Amino acid sequence: MAMKRTCFLYIFSAAFAACMGLAFMTGCGSNDPNAEAKKILEDRCQMCHDLPQKNMKAPEEWKPFLEGHAARAELTQEQVETLAKYLAAR
Ligand code: HEC
Repeated sequence: MAMKRTCFLYIFSAAFAACMGLAFMTGCGSNDPNAEAKKILEDRCQMCHDLPQKNMKAPEEWKPFLEGHAARAELTQEQVETLAKYLAAR
């Protein structure tokens, strides 16, 4: 009896965790500025090179760098801000 209950709890929590993971990756992402930043990275930065590593630049270096690099990636000022925040905070 005790065995069965443990097993049930285990399956339940595994299913719960999987569910939360899925919700995190799909649904709740849309209003999250990080999701926005990740999308810009995937859409705009991978055309020319791999995604930049977070430790590539100091937090305060990202914005000026992106402002210079934005012409290449055709980013709007808004996208620069979103990305700069995301990359600096990682
Ligand atoms: C049109 C091509 C192109 C696009 C799009 C592009 N890059 Fe680059 N990127 C380059 C080239 C070429 C270099 C290497 C030469 C240089 O730094 O000028 C580079 C270098 C870099 C570096 C290294 C610079 C350093 O100081 O070591 C980073 C970080 C970077 N890019 C980030 C990004 C990000 C973030 C995006 C998306 C917003 C992006 N790039 C989009 C062409 C591109």
